[in-house]
Amino acid sequence: MTGERDTVLHSWCAQSAWNAPTVVGGAGAWLHLEDGRRVLDMSSLAECSNLGHQHPRVVAAIRSQAEQLCFVTNAWGAKPRADLAARLLELSGFEGGRVFFTLGGADANEHAVKIVRQAFGKPKGVMVARDRSYHGSTHLAMALSGDARTRAMIDPDAMGVTHVEPPYAYRCPFGSKDAAECGELAAAAIGQRIDHFGADRVAAVIVEPNAGSNGIVAPDSYWPAVRRITRQRSIPLIADEVMSGFGRCGEWFAWQRHGEAGRPDAITLAKGLTGAMMPLGAVVVSREIAARLEHQVLVTGLTYCGHPLSCAAGVAAIDAYREGGLIERSRHLGAGLARALRRLAERHPVIGDVRGGHGLFAVLELVADRDTREPLAPWPQTPPALASLLQAALDEGVSFGARGNLILVAPPLVIDERDLADALALLDLLLARFFPA
Ligand SMILES: Cc1ncc(COP(=O)(O)O)c(C=O)c1O
Repeated sequence: MTGERDTVLHSWCAQSAWNAPTVVGGAGAWLHLEDGRRVLDMSSLAECSNLGHQHPRVVAAIRSQAEQLCFVTNAWGAKPRADLAARLLELSGFEGGRVFFTLGGADANEHAVKIVRQAFGKPKGVMVARDRSYHGSTHLAMALSGDARTRAMIDPDAMGVTHVEPPYAYRCPFGSKDAAECGELAAAAIGQRIDHFGADRVAAVIVEPNAGSNGIVAPDSYWPAVRRITRQRSIPLIADEVMSGFGRCGEWFAWQRHGEAGRPDAITLAKGLTGAMMPLGAVVVSREIAARLEHQVLVTGLTYCGHPLSCAAGVAAIDAYREGGLIERSRHLGAGLARALRRLAERHPVIGDVRGGHGLFAVLELVADRDTREPLAPWPQTPPALASLLQAALDEGVSFGARGNLILVAPPLVIDERDLADALALLDLLLARFFPA
């Protein structure tokens, strides 16, 4: 272990508990550790390394851009920034729209809120967001998030944010036993909340369209209903695609599974935008929002927004997704992953629910009792046996992502099919060892 243990403040953990390996390199879905071991990455680190590690095309683009121009202020133009914006507008079909570049996901969401509030002349308008969502850990992004870990630190009301219940079909907050109905009721709750405040006081709705790192995968009925309900009330809809974008849910952007009926007014991006190989986020806005901003000063901006090195990485990443057919690959492998996980559920009663699989993102929810659906530990605590399983997997050279009672399976889209099968076989063994039936 390096000196980092005693010199760096690490996020989302007690400093005394930090005990992670040091990574010195990687290739494809594999990470190379300082001690010489190789670890198969089944979480794409933080569900962001969609292209795997050290994708050669992106590495080459960063190198070449560094030799030409490392930095120019975003008040001036930069060629890779223009190229990337054009590609994002094309991929999203936001013809006549615009792209605002950010440093990552949290500030993409913060900027999206500022942009829509300004564009629609509601500078302090209410934001409708969702419980058990994650939008980032800057202050406004924490307020938008319905994340149990941050509740004590933030007052969403004071920041103009209100939360509604999520489309959590396995434990439907609206009491429905039917997934599609649960999705519709969750969408209706958004409409009711808008009506409660009055549409003139609400700036926008911000939601993760399909899957979220808090383990919710929305039923198919949800997103089109959210879109219909917000449109009926003329309320802009922001799709937070920071995690679900770039193939993670089997499409470039998860809302695209619903076609034009699912088109939001703005989308926020980060993570897979550069395959996580440079920090970058983006807000893509519709033609209408762009037009509304054309003649007023946009009151926002950070020094490094639209950094040329990051934008060059973004351009190369999109080329890499396209060349590798990785969006389709994710859709195909995701369907197989969901089938394999359902087979695991048949053998391991600790698995209460299997969700996802539109792309390479699936969730296993572990329960103490499958019939009563009693959680293995109160959310968001991680049950000790699951922590032991994760450590045992790592000792065997496989890193799984987890949160609370959930195992999140989200490998890089380039993962070798045999490696994926081997990792699931190991999970099978470890479930039997740590959760004997
Ligand atoms: C849906 C979603 N939005 C926003 C964020 C925050 O992104 P970042 O960590 O780049 O600020 C995340 C990160 O996990 C996320 O999953």
